[in-house]
Amino acid sequence: MANTEMFIRDLADKHGRRRESLMPILQEVIDARRYVDDEVMVNIAKELDLSAAEVYGTASFYSFIETEEVGHYVIRICKTIVCDMKGKDAIIEAIENTLKIKLGQTTPDKKFTFKTTNCLGWCHKGPAMLINDDVYSELTPEKAIEIIESYMHK
Ligand code: FES
Repeated sequence: MANTEMFIRDLADKHGRRRESLMPILQEVIDARRYVDDEVMVNIAKELDLSAAEVYGTASFYSFIETEEVGHYVIRICKTIVCDMKGKDAIIEAIENTLKIKLGQTTPDKKFTFKTTNCLGWCHKGPAMLINDDVYSELTPEKAIEIIESYMHK
């Protein structure tokens, strides 16, 4: 898509075309589009004179960079030990039932993607999850359902 080519060219004009420009460019793509697909990676590689594998390697290294299409809201529930012990499995089940999808899936209307993440640094208030950039802590299944439902009506 010519659109993507121009979008990436503008970002390269703004952030520069050095190796260090890669992260700020990826970050801005995420902010604008929520994920970095193959077409974006190929265009970044072209602009920065890197190999596509190098761009892909960097993008896939960071768990916050999605390399496949995701929904408008990305829910990331912490799967690390403290949240695990504090009952994250019940939260996962409640969210799966509410959205009618399994972990790792996106709703058919592309509104929600449900994923896990590593520790969010909110262990003292676990179980915790992120919805896009917002943190929700001390979850119970009821509280999680309420939160998800509030996003359904946004
Ligand atoms: Fe879940 Fe740290 S273990 S936030």
